[in-house]
Amino acid sequence: MPIEIEAPEQLGYDSIECNLTESSYTDFRFKDLKLNLNELVIAYIDHRGHPELRQLLAQETGGAISANQVLLTSGAAQALFIISTTLLEPGDDMIVIRPNYATNLETPRAIGAQLKIVDLTFENNWKIDPAEIEKQITSKTKFVSVTVPHNPTGTIMSVDDLKALVQITAKHGCRLLVDETYREMNFNGALPYAATFGSHVISVASFSKTFGLPGIRVGWLMTRDEQLFEQFFAAKEQIQICGSALDEEIAYQFYRKRGHFISLIFNNLQRRFATLKDWMESQEFLEWVEPTGGCVAFPRIRADVLKNIDLEKFYKTLNREYSTHVGPGHWFEQPKHFMRIGYGWPTDEALSKGLRNIESAIRGQL
Ligand SMILES: Cc1ncc(COP(=O)(O)O)c(C=O)c1O
Repeated sequence: MPIEIEAPEQLGYDSIECNLTESSYTDFRFKDLKLNLNELVIAYIDHRGHPELRQLLAQETGGAISANQVLLTSGAAQALFIISTTLLEPGDDMIVIRPNYATNLETPRAIGAQLKIVDLTFENNWKIDPAEIEKQITSKTKFVSVTVPHNPTGTIMSVDDLKALVQITAKHGCRLLVDETYREMNFNGALPYAATFGSHVISVASFSKTFGLPGIRVGWLMTRDEQLFEQFFAAKEQIQICGSALDEEIAYQFYRKRGHFISLIFNNLQRRFATLKDWMESQEFLEWVEPTGGCVAFPRIRADVLKNIDLEKFYKTLNREYSTHVGPGHWFEQPKHFMRIGYGWPTDEALSKGLRNIESAIRGQL
């Protein structure tokens, strides 16, 4: 599996002036959370995860999922790893959409599964089409993997399409994994957790993105299939026994007060999205499918501009001369004239400056 050598954490956050690579809301500073952790005992904790936190997460499903059907994991990334390694043997079939968050492709690949990739396209508005997925399902398909809201495009499957996919997978007797790591970041209100739609559906989510807490490494999976849950739980115990007492207590105390933080988060997200949208609407060089959620967009350099551009030189200039970084298309197995712009993380100033820098780095070559 490739190492993320281009990630800003690896390059050093301080070395980048305009960091437009991130796929989360701005990271919170601990003191701004105003939490009290003094009485916390740093013990091994409940192996399923903080019981009250699981209870709160389950409550979000209106009783469709119980606290014992929620497994806390070390980020959504670990949940995805546990799911793939539990469900897949070498040679098994699975279906996954692309572009996607790398783990959704890389872990099944590393296991030696046969990936049937359903490529989403700009021309089709990055739409996840249940009928296209159904065409790929065979009796050997172990699971279908989709990401909603979608990274890197910020587009969102409609609830009707999601329900159609739930029915299709149920009909064919395979499972459905819905990576809902950006669930709350839906401009039209969060969809219900997909795991509430059927016992063959697995939801994965996290504190990293909407809540700006990627450093506590707390995510979760949900499934109503009790036998499968036991397998996931056993895998987690083998990896780490239990989660971090400190991380899960921070997540719990934060989640109890989330109403307070959510308005701040959404105000900032909306304003930054408006900055990006204004910029895109005045663009001569780039075109996009306008996102309906998330905190990232995935525009591309227009074909008429592209023929006059050396892309390697563009990224080099952008990174070195303008100290501006975006997520280049190859992070998502897409051509390099696509780029992911993370607008939810940078300050307003860094975002505006970074966008101007992208334009300047292109204009410099024309
Ligand atoms: C779609 C998706 N799933 C999962 C993850 C992993 O998130 P974390 O492990 O921080 O919760 C990411 C991170 O970028 C993501 O974009």
